[in-house]
Amino acid sequence: MPANCCQMEDNTFGEAEAKANLKDYHRRGPANQTKLMLEAIRSLNLKDAELLDIGGGIGVIHHELLKDVALQATHVDASSAYLKVATEEARRQGHSERVKFIHADFTDVAADLPQVDVVTLDRVVCCYPDFRSLLKAAATKSRRAVALTYPREIWYLRIGGKVINFFQSLSRDPFRMFLHPVLEMDALLRKEGFERVGLRRLFVWEMALYRRVS
Ligand SMILES: C[S@@+](CC[C@H](N)C(=O)[O-])C[C@H]1O[C@@H](n2cnc3c(N)ncnc32)[C@H](O)[C@@H]1O
Repeated sequence: MPANCCQMEDNTFGEAEAKANLKDYHRRGPANQTKLMLEAIRSLNLKDAELLDIGGGIGVIHHELLKDVALQATHVDASSAYLKVATEEARRQGHSERVKFIHADFTDVAADLPQVDVVTLDRVVCCYPDFRSLLKAAATKSRRAVALTYPREIWYLRIGGKVINFFQSLSRDPFRMFLHPVLEMDALLRKEGFERVGLRRLFVWEMALYRRVS
């Protein structure tokens, strides 16, 4: 995918959405599925870790992990509006010098990025059609762990996804939501040398934590 990934994400994840997300974060803290991911990463007991947050949105994962787990972070995002808000929030929280922001489709820039300890994808695979390229590239960048959240493979989300995508096509918006096969994502990460060490479920989202074993 898609040569126009950034343009599409800029349309879908624009300024209004980014500001609304920031307001929610200030009011209520991280979203529930993000809390599960933060808890899972903290359970690894890492210190001074290097973090790569793919599709980090307004940057909640690194805003939080830079407090205790991470020494530095790279945030790659296809939405310039999200990156702008994430950059301002990093400055406000006093850790902007420890975060590198990159506006790109991650699969286009992965080869140029160094390996880090932890790679995160919070609600990202469901925005991207080619989950194999995305997850493979993400896995190769991780020395120790990959954490991701994605919509559960369950009947009510299959229906919900179809309804959302139907209205997206009616409005001629190219953005689609993807319910990728969990077993295939799991098999891919195992093939890349990881084992699953955590799995938590909410009504919509599932969070999986993988640790490198080879
Ligand atoms: C639903 S938002 C989630 C944002 C944030 N992680 C959260 O949970 O609030 C999806 C994010 O993934 C980004 N994204 C999707 N595909 C991407 C890709 N291939 N490379 C970089 N960013 C991507 C979008 O720009 C957007 O910021």
